[in-house]
Amino acid sequence: MVVSSNGHYDWAKELKEFDETKAGVKGLVDVGVTKVPRLFVHPPETLQSRPKLDGVPLDLPTIDFQGLGARRSEVVEEIRKAAGEWGFFRIVNHGFPLETMDAMLAAVKRFHEQPTEEKMPWYSADVRKQVKFNSNLPSRENDPASWRDLLSCVFNDDQLEPENLPLACRKEVLEYAKYMIELREIMAELLSEALGLRSDYLSSIECMKSEALACLYYPRCPEPEKTLGTPKHSDTTFLTLLMQDSTGGLQILHDDHWIDVPPVRGALIANIGDLMQIISNDKFISVEHRVVAQPVGPRISVACFFTPSLKAAVKPFAPIKELLSDENPAVYREFMFRNIPNTTRQKARKLSRHCFVTRFDELFFIFFSQNKFPVHYHETFAISNVSF
Ligand code: OGA
Ligand code: NI
Repeated sequence: MVVSSNGHYDWAKELKEFDETKAGVKGLVDVGVTKVPRLFVHPPETLQSRPKLDGVPLDLPTIDFQGLGARRSEVVEEIRKAAGEWGFFRIVNHGFPLETMDAMLAAVKRFHEQPTEEKMPWYSADVRKQVKFNSNLPSRENDPASWRDLLSCVFNDDQLEPENLPLACRKEVLEYAKYMIELREIMAELLSEALGLRSDYLSSIECMKSEALACLYYPRCPEPEKTLGTPKHSDTTFLTLLMQDSTGGLQILHDDHWIDVPPVRGALIANIGDLMQIISNDKFISVEHRVVAQPVGPRISVACFFTPSLKAAVKPFAPIKELLSDENPAVYREFMFRNIPNTTRQKARKLSRHCFVTRFDELFFIFFSQNKFPVHYHETFAISNVSF
């Protein structure tokens, strides 16, 4: 452990040294660390798990898309309930070929398991890069790092030039994104209907027309009880669609208890993001989740974060008028998506040049606390006028 002159552990120095290896957490495992370095140690209060509710094995809802044509109203009702009560649900029979999913998991593994020298050219914290490899490092001073590495691939308006992708996973990422976009279209319709709106509503406001694929690699961990794969957060997206391999470790916070989300082969997990919670005026909820570190691994997961089109990102979003009434007034103020990443970038740059750019929740967390920007915080909340 590095200890600075004032006796404290030198977070910035350790972070810098780790970053300069450009080898990520996998690099630590490769050199045979048997202890989790101090940089990655999370405080006990973040690690702990409240015991589960007595005897009731809780699991998130599973929604079956089989025969969607004939069962549409039933499925819409299930989505309305799941998105409103859990913020998370599993989707089965979504039309994604199993081979495409398996091939994507294998490709992500292949990318991360290349020799470090092959990955180094991709290593970057530059927010303008659509494709980059990094390790998910803290953007707030003294925040612990997490036991995972990341390849992120950002599609703006559904577009990403193939040659910008690493060869190790190019074909699979493009194929996976194609299916994600197809499923996004279906989800946009179903979520619109579940809000009681016309089917094309969410599609017409282009709130999910760009996507960032977070191709995550969680190496096995020698002391899983000391760190986390992904710390507690909610996604600052409209919608996230997640695929996890068979390792396990994902947990969601439900009724103040951490609930395991065991892997189900072939299933995808839908996760309502903060911005969907805002525009739905709390009809849907964005729920906190985390990934616990595992003694076995690697664990591979792919999170597809849906965010607005380039055009929609510079226009204001607000709680959907059709959902408001005298009895049901707006809980949130208007915001501009564009300003969220921009200010996050400034903030992240100020604190550290490391940031997980597909995730804006650090900023939200700092800025809005846990209250998710309610209207009564008018004085402190004006997303479009943020200055730091
Ligand atoms: C995320 C996330 C979960 C996972 O990246 O936002 O919640 O299973 N990932 O990797
Ligand atoms: Ni998440």
